[in-house]
Amino acid sequence: HTVALHGGAADLGPYRYYMQKEIFEQPRAVVDTLQDVTSIMPELFGDNGWRVLNAVDSVLLLACGGSYHAALTAKYWIESLARLPVSVEIASEYRYRDGVPNAKTLVVAVSQSGETADVLGALQVAKRQGMHHTLAICNVPTSALARECSLTFFTRAGVEIGVASTKAFTTQLVALFLLALTLAQCRRRLSEQDEQRHLLALRHLPDAMTRVLALEPQIVAWAEQLTRRQDILFLGRGMHYPIAMEGALKMKEIAYIHAEAYAAGELKHGPLALVSDEMPVVAVAPNDRLLEKLKSNMHEVSARSGKLYVFADIDCRIMSGPAIEVIRLTEHHGLLSPILHTIPMQLLAFHAALARGTDIDKPRNLAKSVTVE
Ligand code: G6P
Repeated sequence: HTVALHGGAADLGPYRYYMQKEIFEQPRAVVDTLQDVTSIMPELFGDNGWRVLNAVDSVLLLACGGSYHAALTAKYWIESLARLPVSVEIASEYRYRDGVPNAKTLVVAVSQSGETADVLGALQVAKRQGMHHTLAICNVPTSALARECSLTFFTRAGVEIGVASTKAFTTQLVALFLLALTLAQCRRRLSEQDEQRHLLALRHLPDAMTRVLALEPQIVAWAEQLTRRQDILFLGRGMHYPIAMEGALKMKEIAYIHAEAYAAGELKHGPLALVSDEMPVVAVAPNDRLLEKLKSNMHEVSARSGKLYVFADIDCRIMSGPAIEVIRLTEHHGLLSPILHTIPMQLLAFHAALARGTDIDKPRNLAKSVTVE
């Protein structure tokens, strides 16, 4: 159906859906996004990069939908690498709130299309309030958003057709990680050694992503079990909490399964009441310093006969059992781990949608870019 609209099946190559093709294009999209990045420097964000990024004392990220989850992940990176205070706002909320402006804040608008009305509206509000240090992170260089901002960074995901964002999301994360490194450098918090180490990790990312994509057969098996469910809970902690949110969003958007994400520590403050053998729980559980805490959250789920589906890493000591299934990502990737853990979220939703027979590239009631309020 959608195929005919966009130039024929040849575009799709071996894939049935654009979303599927776009998921598998991610290693290439990351390579392209990093193409001109040979070192960390403010000019990556435009000619005024040095002047602007050295003048700011805080960061405000504005976005909608999946882009909002990328922005939430960036908060963890910018705070820990650059030690700048960061707030993240849903654009449609920010534009109508009586926010307290700070002229030294870097306003970062994150948008695949660069045409989302609420993002443009929120940016205008920020500018009207005297915040003129603005950066657009978007995938369309000719977009309105790119014209409106003093700095720009273009992801090179290529045209994204599937309504549910995939390659645009992971390349936004790459762009935001570069921003965190650059802000750290401006604040003399990035040694040359650290810079090299992070650049190496970024360059390794496409290979690491390819290895995660190879986990597809295991994820298909989980998706088939999950399609029969009405509700799914997604859990994550720290910088993987926004990735759990992204997983739940994808599940709603394309598989039409009610899914909610919780910061795992909040489980006991409400959602635990919903957990039963009818309510599966998907946990994003890489081996980081929060793993032990997450494990005890997962124990709370098993104790209430909730079935657990855990995305862990190679070196993480969580074992499969009767009520817990584990898929291990093949390596642990430090700060870039949220990018790798996004891929299983996408594949899980994609295969759940496939099993349910939904219109994956054009889910009901949704539009690729929302240019009206
Ligand atoms: C729509 C799309 C989402 C997207 C959101 C923000 O709702 O369906 O996939 O995340 O808009 O779009 P943007 O172009 O601003 O990133």
